[in-house]
Amino acid sequence: STGSSLTIDGESYPSDSWTNVSSSILEHYGRALHIQQNHPLTITRKLIESRFKKFQNYNDLPGVVTVGQNFDSLGFTADHPGRSRTDTYYINKHTLLRTHTTAHEVDIFRANSSDGYTISADVYRRDSVDKSHYPVFHQMEGALTWDRRAFSSSSDLIAQIQADMLANVPKHDLAVEDPNPTFHPERNPLQTKYHTPQEAEAIATHLKRSLEDMVVTIFTEADKALKAAGHDAQGEDEPLKVRWVEAFFPHTSPSWELEVWWRGDWLEVLGCGVIDQPLLTRADQPDRVGWAFGIGLERIAMLLFGIPDIRLFWSKDSRFLSQFDESKPIQRYQPFSKYPAAPRDVAFWLPKSSTGPVIAETPASVSSAPSPAGGQPTEPPMDIEPAFHENDLMEVVRNTAGDDVEDVKLIDSFTHPKTGRHSLCYRVTYRSLEKTLTNEEANALHEQIRNELVERFGVELR
Ligand code: PHE
Repeated sequence: STGSSLTIDGESYPSDSWTNVSSSILEHYGRALHIQQNHPLTITRKLIESRFKKFQNYNDLPGVVTVGQNFDSLGFTADHPGRSRTDTYYINKHTLLRTHTTAHEVDIFRANSSDGYTISADVYRRDSVDKSHYPVFHQMEGALTWDRRAFSSSSDLIAQIQADMLANVPKHDLAVEDPNPTFHPERNPLQTKYHTPQEAEAIATHLKRSLEDMVVTIFTEADKALKAAGHDAQGEDEPLKVRWVEAFFPHTSPSWELEVWWRGDWLEVLGCGVIDQPLLTRADQPDRVGWAFGIGLERIAMLLFGIPDIRLFWSKDSRFLSQFDESKPIQRYQPFSKYPAAPRDVAFWLPKSSTGPVIAETPASVSSAPSPAGGQPTEPPMDIEPAFHENDLMEVVRNTAGDDVEDVKLIDSFTHPKTGRHSLCYRVTYRSLEKTLTNEEANALHEQIRNELVERFGVELR
């Protein structure tokens, strides 16, 4: 589509062969739910911010960023799957909707007006459709650094990091599992050119204790709300426990994910690590060392308030919005009604030329991101981009039926033994949160989706 352009927030961007952002996505741009008064995401954000005193809070950074900001500045390799058009909304080759709040780290470090900061914002990822995944969600980034030049020796720096922890992070009696060594020679090496192991350990310990404290705060509030609603608190028969799991991010080393034992399952809540030193050098802060984390706000808000479906955050229905009040203790969400589900299946043959389907993996845990704050699923590199990617189907469904779809699931997949053709069958569950969909309405949406699949991907309906 040469010559055309997209207008976002009054700004015009030329489109090109990379453009894949849809109007249904852009309709969400600028809603700023995380700063809307009395919104559950705002309440969640403020609760987390309250545990990081003296941090500067950035809450209105625009979501259109460059490929440089979102990937290059953070050390993403050229072939990193996160860059794929099947996962990321591109405005054009150079411009995209940020996939994480980390996109602003280098800019904020460069401006450097305080040691600690948080960034809360809407982020965008192409993904599956179900009750815990939505292509727009919210993250909070947190980072804390120390300036080496303020200390005459490495041991003074370490002593300061430890003193800061004692001063700012209350002791807790949370059960913590942390079975893996801090460093792994390939996956999570010590940044030997820049840190001593003792420095990295001190930063890591400060990071872990700070985030454990945050989790204690969140779950204490969640328990209180449950008790007030007459449920057993989750901690009653089983004490609250968390575990640190080795992770990998291009912008931290070593890196972890934090998981929380919640109602019988390990729930990933965040990603974090010791900040990659070249990143700080790119931000003209080669003398600073520190940590960063990224947490998905919807996931936390869903368990704090007991919100069962991620689409609800976007609701303008007062039966939803009137239930939340910043000035009061957290209260459990009361479903105002449940409308009937209308499941419809669509089965089709992929085009003969197809290299085969790529099915995105959907983790079982409650999140709007592939991983806590979002690692990316493994996929083939871009030069062998398949003819059909599951996220393309998800996009067709979202563009056609919007928030009237609750869930899309692959229910059958096989390859014909003689012809070698691939067949897929998906179950699309239509259900509005605000009204009953008639059979005719569900059929009309489904018919439109079927036609769109034929037109866009050349599939043959079965
Ligand atoms: N940017 C990571 C993600 O979205 C989360 C993260 C932030 C991890 C900061 C480490 C440090 O997946």
